[in-house]
Amino acid sequence: MANVVVVGAQWGDEGKGKIVDWLSERADVIARFQGGHNAGHTLVIGETVFKLSLLPSGIVRPGKLAVIGNGVVLDPWALFSEIDRLAGQGVAISTENLMIAENTPLILPLHQDLDKLREDAAGKAKIGTTGRGIGPAYEDKVGRRTIRVADLADEETLDSRLDRLLAHHDALRKGLGASPIDRADLKARLMEIAPQLLPYAQPVWKIMGDARKAGKRILFEGAQGSLLDIDFGTYPYVTSSTTTSGAAASGTGVGPGAIGFVLGIVKAYTTRVGEGPFPTELDDADGQRLGERGHEFGTVTGRKRRCGWFDAVLVRQTCAISGVNGIALTKLDVLDGFETLKICTGYEIDGVTYDYLPTAAALQAKVTPIYEEMEGWQESTAGARSWAELPAAAIKYVRRVEELIQCPVAMLSTSPERDDTILVTDPFAD
Ligand code: IMP
Repeated sequence: MANVVVVGAQWGDEGKGKIVDWLSERADVIARFQGGHNAGHTLVIGETVFKLSLLPSGIVRPGKLAVIGNGVVLDPWALFSEIDRLAGQGVAISTENLMIAENTPLILPLHQDLDKLREDAAGKAKIGTTGRGIGPAYEDKVGRRTIRVADLADEETLDSRLDRLLAHHDALRKGLGASPIDRADLKARLMEIAPQLLPYAQPVWKIMGDARKAGKRILFEGAQGSLLDIDFGTYPYVTSSTTTSGAAASGTGVGPGAIGFVLGIVKAYTTRVGEGPFPTELDDADGQRLGERGHEFGTVTGRKRRCGWFDAVLVRQTCAISGVNGIALTKLDVLDGFETLKICTGYEIDGVTYDYLPTAAALQAKVTPIYEEMEGWQESTAGARSWAELPAAAIKYVRRVEELIQCPVAMLSTSPERDDTILVTDPFAD
């Protein structure tokens, strides 16, 4: 059975929500394996728009099992507010259709405090985080002082975890001019949420293993994008998790052999939210137009996204790092009506040509994109459901993208509507 991993192949916001929803209809189990409520996935099903942050997209479909893996950092209060919001839209969530790995680290209010304190203190050097406490929560996980879901089941364990965690945070907060944590209040809040959260806690690695043995189809739903990866992204302007495909295995407790097909989600141009390098960024009317036509505002923070031309160098790089078998190309219709389109095919740095983005920040700062111009198209591609409905220049653009990134298009999405999709290869096919 070909299980599928979906990863964003740029800086996030590639339009994963729709594709994941399309695939989740075909899957039995849908698992999140990294990130937290910094993600924002929009699903349009019929007349209803669902906005998800932490819950796997499959949750809106009856009969599917949604799983939050140990690679995620979980804010329990954000989880239940999302569950309540979805309940208001008629989505029933219970221990029947949602399971959370018992070894998942928690995001606490102190992580959000630290995220904000650090960003404020950094001034111009800030990362531009979502302020959700993601980075500090992962730091505590790796620092072996985090509180995990299962720790809430035993007061003695919770006490000793709190001692270790607060010793660290109080010292940090002092340095940043913040007051110490109110331990009694934090403990009371955790004890209060524990009976709500614990029924969902499961040995997810075991459930995933059983699902595999039973021949179930698993969809691993990545969040953010490969260029925000903690190792391979534009460090330090990244998120704090592994956003590339390998994390699907370690973030849920399955072996790497469980992954059959890696689908990279790629937007037909480039966007980025937050600070950091962006070689093809446009500060002109073309960039403005991409932002307006593409409705490029963050789902979680509402921030305006930076926009630029398609960067084939970066996507070739991320497809290689994640072992992408095929891409889903999204938002092609946003390019409708441009006279000329540009695609970045290489970089020039200090007179040297590069076919990849070097790691050194000093080199990244000096990148000049090398562009290839392509003829645009005036017809609308919005809503196209077959190649025959696309203008020749649009097909040429797609073919050139495939050639440059060295990866085929498996799916082409031409509007937020789920049926406005051209399917070339079904990622779930054996
Ligand atoms: P953090 O994940 O909140 O720590 O933010 C780190 C960086 O990742 C910032 O540049 C954010 O804008 C970016 N980021 C985090 N989550 C997303 C996402 O879901 N889409 C796009 N960018 C994101």
